[in-house]
Amino acid sequence: MNSIAVTVLNRFRESFTFEPTLYFSPGRINLIGEHVDYNDGFVLPAAIDKGVYYAVAPNNSDNLNFIAIDFDERLSVAVMDIKKMSNWQNYVLSVVNEFVLLGVAVKGFDCVFAGDIPRGSGMSSSAAVEGGLAFALNEMLNTKMNRVELALLCQRAEHNYPHVNCGIMDQYANMMGRKDEVIMLDCKTVEHQYFPLRLQGCKIVLINSKVHHTLASGEYNIRRQRCEAGMAVLKSGLGIQSFRDIKDVEALMPFKDKMEEKVFNCCKYVVEEIARAKKASTVLKQDDLVSFGKLMYATHEGLSKLYEVSCPELDFLVELAKQESGVIGGRLMGGGFGGCTINIVKDEAINHFIETASKAYHQKFNIDAEAYIVSTGDGTKQIAVTP
Ligand code: GLA
Repeated sequence: MNSIAVTVLNRFRESFTFEPTLYFSPGRINLIGEHVDYNDGFVLPAAIDKGVYYAVAPNNSDNLNFIAIDFDERLSVAVMDIKKMSNWQNYVLSVVNEFVLLGVAVKGFDCVFAGDIPRGSGMSSSAAVEGGLAFALNEMLNTKMNRVELALLCQRAEHNYPHVNCGIMDQYANMMGRKDEVIMLDCKTVEHQYFPLRLQGCKIVLINSKVHHTLASGEYNIRRQRCEAGMAVLKSGLGIQSFRDIKDVEALMPFKDKMEEKVFNCCKYVVEEIARAKKASTVLKQDDLVSFGKLMYATHEGLSKLYEVSCPELDFLVELAKQESGVIGGRLMGGGFGGCTINIVKDEAINHFIETASKAYHQKFNIDAEAYIVSTGDGTKQIAVTP
């Protein structure tokens, strides 16, 4: 058993009476299609081998008892007293609250969790926390929701107490991920296709800028509002329903003066990124990694200059990647404002890239970046308790 799973299990057995069920709930990477999940776009995420481990058991009471090992904190609350709080408590309680809102008779349970996704790294530790608990409660309470319903429940949970108006990408990847496969998710219809991730002698390397990103800070919701403001103008002007109905950036030009500059820039980015994500799935299926890498750099440029969700540290890391001949492509990943860059790097160049980037980054910002070579993995699942 994984060492974190062992720690979670042991802590549960020391703290509570009943024998728990164990679950693993993954984080995610996103190859391309950033900030378009809430704009009816296409995204290409995959679940990864890093995530959150949960031990959960009913406790024959009306109390919910949580131990968050990574925060060294506990929380005990009666089901009827669930309310919005702060930090990790909001994420778990909001998931329970969504079951309550569905009219499910939630019973008391004990729960211990811990994980290996660095917080604020853009690998969606929040969706991993939500997904693991929702999956466990679905089994424990016999609510028989399918994985897509659980992903949607988790998205509502993130909107509710934490008040991050996220799209569906992270929760979907968390539930629907499959080892060695990418999910091509249509965020308008919430339907997906899988296709194999063939990296042909390359690996996915994440570099954590260690700039702490917290989507709850409000900037994420502001980007969403800008898109909504732009869409309102485009809807009445073009008679369209969605960003995906816009042919190209040219079609936006007549509306440039009818929007604030930042709103227009967000619309421009979204139209371009929807097209890039579609193109990316085609070139990836054709094993054309070089074209894919160029699209990644173009996405970063758009996220930085038009969508304004980058920061000097992430821009610097992407510039470093461009200078390395063994790096096929790179960009900031996830919501932005900090966290990781995602890079596709040739196997033989990985050590050199990590060393060079870490050194230059330290010299410039006096921060020790961290690098992770990630593999894809399955969506949230129960794991066996082995002796
Ligand atoms: C966060 C959100 C997602 C998505 C990304 C940006 O991870 O949770 O829904 O919007 O940012 O692509």
